Amino acid sequence: MDDVDFLQSTSIMSTSAQEADAQENILRPKFLKDFQGQKKIKENLGVFITAARERGEALDHVFLIGPPGLGKTTLASIVANEMGSEIRMTSAPALDKPKDLAGILTNVTENSVFFIDEIHRLKPALEEMLYIAMEDFEIDWVIGQGPSARTMRIPIPHFTLIGATTKAGMVSSPLQTRFGINCRIEFYNEQELGQIIKRSASLINVPIEDEAVTLLAKCSRGTPRIANRLLRRFRDFAEVKSNGVITPEVVNSSIKNLGIDLNGLEDQDRNILRTIIEFYGGGPVGAETLSISVGEAIESLEDFYEPYLIQKGYLKRTPRGRMVTAKAYELLGLQDLMQAQMNTNGSNFLPGFGGAGDQQGTLDLFE
Ligand SMILES: Nc1ncnc2c1ncn2[C@@H]1O[C@H](COP(=O)(O)OP(=O)(O)OP(=O)(O)O)[C@@H](O)[C@H]1O
Ligand SMILES: [Mg+2]
Repeated sequence: MDDVDFLQSTSIMSTSAQEADAQENILRPKFLKDFQGQKKIKENLGVFITAARERGEALDHVFLIGPPGLGKTTLASIVANEMGSEIRMTSAPALDKPKDLAGILTNVTENSVFFIDEIHRLKPALEEMLYIAMEDFEIDWVIGQGPSARTMRIPIPHFTLIGATTKAGMVSSPLQTRFGINCRIEFYNEQELGQIIKRSASLINVPIEDEAVTLLAKCSRGTPRIANRLLRRFRDFAEVKSNGVITPEVVNSSIKNLGIDLNGLEDQDRNILRTIIEFYGGGPVGAETLSISVGEAIESLEDFYEPYLIQKGYLKRTPRGRMVTAKAYELLGLQDLMQAQMNTNGSNFLPGFGGAGDQQGTLDLFE
């Protein structure tokens, strides 16, 4: 288990699946109509699925890109359900040898769905096999060894490959271009999260007041997986410390116990912002230096903490390093320090003030 996995598996705000998330399956929407948010993706997929089904063909290959916990696996099974077809699920690290992949490809049924999670981790030899399978619905198989070895092309059923990744930038372009349908899944807004929370609450039979739904949506980091996990924790608090109803009071007191705030920030999030401000004058600071200063592995900094801080407008990634924004000073009540740092530097250099940080532009989050 590397540092990121460790962090992700222990933090209540982790975006990756944990053992306690086994209930996720109960909460997973089965059809497009129950899948909240992502309006464009839903509309387009709905059209493509209907068209493929009416033609009696397999749906074109689908590429799902987005941070953890936003619904990639859920969407894959929804596609299979809507197509009325079978689904085989695996993840790239589980596919070791060409025969592992060939075994699955030769056994898929006509028009069914084959889902490969973490597709950016697929080995090159397997990736090449997949190119031919996706394009020609055939696989190359080598028979024999040495000079007498020969390659046979074996036809396989027409299938839909659904590839999911959290790191689109790490997927080779030959693979990427073989997907006909590309879906980039975005963080959810509070209203969409509110709908997800209400639906989940009714499925697990816990009464929750509207105002509590709003608060819970606010601290869910734009991520349905976190919303569902917090909902289960708040249910525990409500049952033990109150009368079982999740009220705004229950939410407010539980988040204190869990060490998070109403923006969905944890102590370490605030520590990262404070470090950039107090040690590096607001930035820019390189990821490596920052990771040492806050005692966090660079991967967990980049993959877990930063995306949300950036999304909320507290932090910017610039080619020269990380910079905080005025919003971060406000969050930490350090406006006076911001003024002092601006005076020291002789101008409004801080990002969020139209200074150098803005001109540098920001780097794409998931590339
Ligand atoms: N749009 C949505 N509407 C309702 N619930 C959702 C939605 N998206 C995700 N969820 C809920 O969030 C949980 C996590 O989603 P899912 O497992 O599909 O995420 P993922 O993108 O595959 O994450 P990972 O990258 O870790 O594999 C699901 O169990 C589901 O209950
Ligand atoms: Mg998944």
